[in-house]
Amino acid sequence: MNGRNSTESIMEKDSRLLSRSVRIPFFPLVARTGQGAILEDLEGEKYIDFLSFGAISNVGHNHPAVVEAIKAQAETLIHCNPAYAFNERLTELTEELVAITPGTGNKKVAYGLSGADANDGAIKAARAYTGRQKIIAFLRSYHGNTYGAMSLSAVSLPMRYNFGPGVPEIYHIPYPDCHRCPMGHCNDQECQMACYRYFLGLFETLFAPDEVAAVIMEPIQGDAGIIIPPQDYMKNIYDFCKNNGILFVSEEVQTGMGRTGRWFGIENFNLEPDIIVVGKALASGMPLSALVARGGIFDAWSSPGHVFSTSGNPVCCAAAIATINVIRREGLLEKTIETGRYIKERLDTLTTKYQQVSQVRGLGFMIGVELVKDRASQERARDLAAKIVWRCYERGLYLTFFSGSVLRICPPLVINWQELDQGLSILEEAIGDAISGRVPDSVLETVKGW
Ligand SMILES: Cc1ncc(COP(=O)(O)O)c(C=O)c1O
Repeated sequence: MNGRNSTESIMEKDSRLLSRSVRIPFFPLVARTGQGAILEDLEGEKYIDFLSFGAISNVGHNHPAVVEAIKAQAETLIHCNPAYAFNERLTELTEELVAITPGTGNKKVAYGLSGADANDGAIKAARAYTGRQKIIAFLRSYHGNTYGAMSLSAVSLPMRYNFGPGVPEIYHIPYPDCHRCPMGHCNDQECQMACYRYFLGLFETLFAPDEVAAVIMEPIQGDAGIIIPPQDYMKNIYDFCKNNGILFVSEEVQTGMGRTGRWFGIENFNLEPDIIVVGKALASGMPLSALVARGGIFDAWSSPGHVFSTSGNPVCCAAAIATINVIRREGLLEKTIETGRYIKERLDTLTTKYQQVSQVRGLGFMIGVELVKDRASQERARDLAAKIVWRCYERGLYLTFFSGSVLRICPPLVINWQELDQGLSILEEAIGDAISGRVPDSVLETVKGW
């Protein structure tokens, strides 16, 4: 126990005082310290982190270089409102973002504080630039919880239910998921890309291409359970946008900053988006988001069209510059590609061992293990997922699930071999335990997930 708080007292105060809207119930873990891929709780228990708090701690918890940068900047100047004054940290970071994002030619950057506000910015910038109103987004995508981002999202009913009208003129289409094809063609070669034909169908029945400002797309759908679209689909959508003056926005809040083994997920498809949305891992957990747009797009945005009093804060910028340097210096992109392959191959053996492990998929350190009740029905096995993550938690592995029953393998990119192997062994044992009924139903009272 640390100080006068116990886990129980924190949990009790939390449930009494904090809105439940901010939590997804998993474990009674009160995080106290973090170092690299290890989290420690209030009781001194250590956990190998396979969550990175949702693809945020890409360079690990409290990387010494990031801590040092934050301290040094905090001692110099904590805040500078970008609306009123210039700051060298902001300029330095802007140069870095222009350098690491795909695409060439007079790119420009705008800052915010969260993935959600950056997505709102993408809607605003696309509408301002094109003079068009309509936005195309994807079913089962998650973009955040402001009104604009919520209106783009379509992943979970409680995130929209009873919130009244959202931002108008946003249209959702099926995301290309070949494992659970929304068009009913799972892995069947005859599909002739029915999902792309659905997209084309919009322009025969609902509106013309010249009414559409942007397609906003996660290059890998994250919270939907890590869905990787086919290369051809991506190229078709991208080409259609290019040919019709529609902006292609790559929503990289989760896929960005090295998570897939590239700086940005869209690089896995060799496409150069018009706008890139960055958040989460950008500043290793300090609140910072960014939009990076190709030349000219932001020139249509009037001043002050996207100002937040604390965005581009020098301390957050210093953390982001340090994060980028760590990814470069420690060769984390190359490591993530290689090690990610190893994780996937190792977990893939579970698909032959257990019929409840339906698929292992992903790129880099963004890997999903999908669980089903049985192969024939492919019905999602939510309770099984909850029991597995609970057993992992009991054994010192911090892991969650999403999309009903997809285990989320998302460790910090800095995790070492020993931690990784130990984490995977715990996971393999936990899957065996849960499948053979060795985890009690009572844990379902605590682990609810989403
Ligand atoms: C793809 C994606 N976009 C946007 C967001 C929202 O980011 P934030 O929580 O920083 O607003 C998330 C968060 O999980 C996300 O995964």
